[in-house]
Amino acid sequence: MNGCFVSHLECALTGERHVGAPPYGYSTAGAPLLVRYDLDAVAGAVDKSMLAERPTGLWRYREFLPYPDRADVVSLGEATTPLVALPAIARRLGGMNLMAKDEGGLPTGSFKARGMAIAITMLKSFGVTDVAVPSAGNAGSAMAAYGARAGMRCSVFVPEDAPEVTNREAALLGAKVYNVPGIIDACGRAMMETMPDDGWFDLSTLKEPYRIEGKKTMGLELAEQGGWRLPDVIFYPTGGGTGLIGMWKAFAELREMGWLEGDLPRMVAVQTTGCAPIIKAFDAGLDEVPEPWENVDTEVHGVRVRKAFGDRLILSALYESGGFAIAVDDREVHDMRIACARADGFHLCPEGTACLAAYAHAINDGRIAKSDRAVIFNSANGLKSPIPVN
Ligand SMILES: Cc1ncc(COP(=O)(O)O)c(C=O)c1O
Repeated sequence: MNGCFVSHLECALTGERHVGAPPYGYSTAGAPLLVRYDLDAVAGAVDKSMLAERPTGLWRYREFLPYPDRADVVSLGEATTPLVALPAIARRLGGMNLMAKDEGGLPTGSFKARGMAIAITMLKSFGVTDVAVPSAGNAGSAMAAYGARAGMRCSVFVPEDAPEVTNREAALLGAKVYNVPGIIDACGRAMMETMPDDGWFDLSTLKEPYRIEGKKTMGLELAEQGGWRLPDVIFYPTGGGTGLIGMWKAFAELREMGWLEGDLPRMVAVQTTGCAPIIKAFDAGLDEVPEPWENVDTEVHGVRVRKAFGDRLILSALYESGGFAIAVDDREVHDMRIACARADGFHLCPEGTACLAAYAHAINDGRIAKSDRAVIFNSANGLKSPIPVN
């Protein structure tokens, strides 16, 4: 049995070590808690050739995760997700080297499975029996799946207009689904008003330390898939930003361990013109989103976050990586989804398509080179969102 290499939990704002008993939420300063590891001990316990021998899936990276290797992890058979080349649409957009990291084959069809697999495993080990989450749809159904597997009671708060498939899926998996007028912040408020004062755990994005550790495995996979050489640029559909922050954390850990060849990638946050708080803050050179975005107007549900709890972490990853932030409009997403499907036979979800549209912008305006090795995140199976008609 492998051990657990967590050294402590740290406040993302103050850097202070967190003291207190599990289950852990956020820091006393009101910021996300980050899991820190004894990376020398990790490097002593595993090397690249050992990893190469292991079965696929996120638990192959167990030394980088907060749970020891035991038979009782809550798992639904997570796959290592493929990198799919998109040569025809890349050529049409003026690029040469474009891949989609396709998260659609994970349990419940989205990358939210990664975070929930780790978080629910941890919460189960702490004896938590009731969990709740505000969600655009996918996090709710992923939590419902892992929660059902762990024998937990699950409550999911989703916008009234969330895709029907995600609501029905969460209900099918046994969760109590609340449909809330408004978007995810309204869902968070409804959750706090509806749930009893104690006896349940809040799995909101970055309000606990473990979902991000699950999302970190996207970065570990990318590194391993590239022979420990990372792409030049990564386009990520940014709502709460857990994946972007998680990947940046993975790259920092791997770099500290000396596992990476070459440079770190530039990280690009993608949102839509109808909800672009990160783009606005980035363009103004700010460290945080000063005000929640007013009048959200976009059909790209995953990026409808008016002000992310982890806004500082998202922005610092963009600045540190020499990356940037791009907003695309819904019309482009609609058209590009059809164009990619026809050119390369690949059905992106709206959020993944937003990344493709952002790639086109970045090539056009010279922010990336045509030859740059680019990865866009297809964060869910295209079938989880309404399919465009044209
Ligand atoms: C399909 C999809 N893409 C992207 C996102 C945004 O993810 P994150 O919160 O990690 O920024 C979501 C979140 O709901 C989503 O469901």
